[in-house]
Amino acid sequence: MKLVASIFCLMISCVAFAQHQALSQLVYEIRDPSTDSAHFRQALEKIGEYLALEVLDELETTEESITTLMQADAKHQIVQETPVLVTILRAGLPLNNGVQKIFQNSEVGFLAMSRNEKTLKADVDYIALPDLKDRCVIIVDTMLATGGSLLDAVRIVEQGCPKKIFVIAAIASEYGLERVCEYNPHIKVFSAAVDPVLNERGYIVPGLGDAGDRSFGMKHLVSMPTS
Ligand code: PRP
Ligand code: URA
Repeated sequence: MKLVASIFCLMISCVAFAQHQALSQLVYEIRDPSTDSAHFRQALEKIGEYLALEVLDELETTEESITTLMQADAKHQIVQETPVLVTILRAGLPLNNGVQKIFQNSEVGFLAMSRNEKTLKADVDYIALPDLKDRCVIIVDTMLATGGSLLDAVRIVEQGCPKKIFVIAAIASEYGLERVCEYNPHIKVFSAAVDPVLNERGYIVPGLGDAGDRSFGMKHLVSMPTS
């Protein structure tokens, strides 16, 4: 499976499949149906931290010199820019908490999306974004399944004219990744796992189930009261 995913990622240039052992253990934990919601969210946070470090490596650096107590200079490549995080409610929240631990001073934008389980298209219910002009933006969502939600998010973010868009996802499907790369090959997606199958309900297989439900509990549909 790992090998298949790696070969797939080599074929799609905009995907970075982070593969180290710590991440693999965390993905195992979120896939495990017996992981309770507290540990599920904790594991997602940790995955967010690791993937954020991968994005950090992609940001522009400048050479800075520091004079130490030994009266000697040391030169370092330092990241100066602070990316804007944009997370998709609700399943993106635990992953975003982890990303924020790395980018502590980042502004955070929110998009509330609900995927219609029949059409598999997302309705956008709420948009709250900071100024994105000429900024690096990291869109954070736990699952990249059909790619519909992410592509909607990308189109919304693009209206703000950012300099560069990155995506952090815990688990992505091959199909979703292909759609994103086809839409814009300059968007770089960082994912802890790439899965081969999307079932007829648009769920990733093997995946982990419903990320929002596993993080926060099952949704019970309530219709708007009429006034
Ligand atoms: C999940 C996830 C993504 C979306 C991915 O949200 O957070 O936003 O599904 O699916 P797609 O790639 O096919 O669009 P979900 O709709 O389950 O809502 P939730 O966060 O409220 O649980
Ligand atoms: N949303 C989820 O939470 N899980 C999937 O597998 C696909 C979409």
